[in-house]
Amino acid sequence: MIKKVKQQKKEMVRTPKGMHDLLPTDVAYYEKIYEKARLISEFYGFSPIETPHVENTDLFIRPLGEATDVVEKEMYSFKSKGGDMLTLRPEGTAPVMRAYYEHGMQSWPQPVKLYYNGSFFRHERPQRGRTREFRQFGAEIIGEQDPIIDAILIKIAYLILKEIGFPNVLIHINSLGDRDCRGQYKKELLAFSKKKFNYLCKDCKRRVKDNPLRLLDCKDTACVEIRAQAPQPIAYLCNNCKAHLKGVLEYLDEGEIPYTIDHHLVRGFDYYGRTVFEIFLEEDEAGALEEVKEGENKIVSAVQLAVGGGGRYDELMTLLGGKSVPAAGFAFGLERIVHEMKAHEIATSKIKQSPKVFLVQIGAAAKRRSFKLVEELRKGGVSVGESLSRDNLRSQLSIAAKLGAHFSLILGQKEAMGDTIIVRNMIEGSQETVMQKNLIDFLKNQSKKKK
Ligand code: HAM
Repeated sequence: MIKKVKQQKKEMVRTPKGMHDLLPTDVAYYEKIYEKARLISEFYGFSPIETPHVENTDLFIRPLGEATDVVEKEMYSFKSKGGDMLTLRPEGTAPVMRAYYEHGMQSWPQPVKLYYNGSFFRHERPQRGRTREFRQFGAEIIGEQDPIIDAILIKIAYLILKEIGFPNVLIHINSLGDRDCRGQYKKELLAFSKKKFNYLCKDCKRRVKDNPLRLLDCKDTACVEIRAQAPQPIAYLCNNCKAHLKGVLEYLDEGEIPYTIDHHLVRGFDYYGRTVFEIFLEEDEAGALEEVKEGENKIVSAVQLAVGGGGRYDELMTLLGGKSVPAAGFAFGLERIVHEMKAHEIATSKIKQSPKVFLVQIGAAAKRRSFKLVEELRKGGVSVGESLSRDNLRSQLSIAAKLGAHFSLILGQKEAMGDTIIVRNMIEGSQETVMQKNLIDFLKNQSKKKK
């Protein structure tokens, strides 16, 4: 007996978990943000840079920090066929610094101002505001330590969001001090954490020695309570770091950029020193709120998600093994900004204009001629819609009407043979036959007449 093999239903392949397609209506939002960010950055002297999506893993380990979430558990790392350890970039600052060094930008006029835009990858637990592929717009100023640089970056981030149309942009700022004063502060925080060790969450207990700063931005309820009594970095700043912070705040006051000093702001990477900041949009019901869940019964308050963050990273180059270079920057998370644009009903600028001219063709000869005619119209500067795959006159005319075309160009067998074309005025209902060679001028004259 022949055994009947039950046909297994094949499941359609879908996007990987935590990664999403951007459909045309979504892309319009991203383009609006990018356009604003690019125009403002270029006005302030930034140039674009693009770095690879894949880098040597070592580029991220030390600068970001071995005891950080990203390096510990979120990097997409793999061994290449040639045996190299590579990583899908989780962030853009270390790659830009690598490029600065690799291309000898130290010899360019300083500071070097660069911006970038693209996808980044972190293997996070997908939830609201966190995806595994996300897009950032980032800006970096390399080669200058003056506090005005930090303030310029904050101002640019602020302006971009304001000009996109957000009424309230909130900047949270803090200073972590330089290596020396931060070292002193870390010791104090470690001593404090040891005293409270039994009350810390599992993650903080594990990392307290390697990364005591983590306690300050831990979302666990118990840790949030403990940190209220923890020493604060600002109290340990040396005179130079104090003066730097004072300078940044004075420039922000001068520029009328509202900010809040946030004593618990530490940011997630080891490369930061001195200024750190995060950018939030006004909290509302539809805002970017995240519920942090750890296990079954542990729920912590909803926390607001930053749409951007950055700071000074004067020590990054030395962490990479190079000579120290002062630098600062920020990056926006575009998914989170798009989410907020939708919540605030901020329109995208690019509403695709339908062409005012639509080409209708009937019959094989006309269809062949249309194939070339569309290109002649494009070269002549006439935007034309078409549905060349359809053969039916009525269905083509109905598309033209739906698009709101002012003119339909009708090309039948007779017209194709005689090098003519019928131009139907869809609004007035009139039509006339025009020589194909005169078509572009005819359409241009018609549109001039309308003006
Ligand atoms: P970051 O804070 O890790 O900083 O990321 C910047 C922004 O990217 C965040 O504020 C957030 O809006 C967005 N973002 C981060 N992870 C995700 C995710 N999984 N899903 C969606 N959005 C996300 C940096 O990356 C630094 N390189 C910024 C910087 C530039 N610092 C100095 N220069």
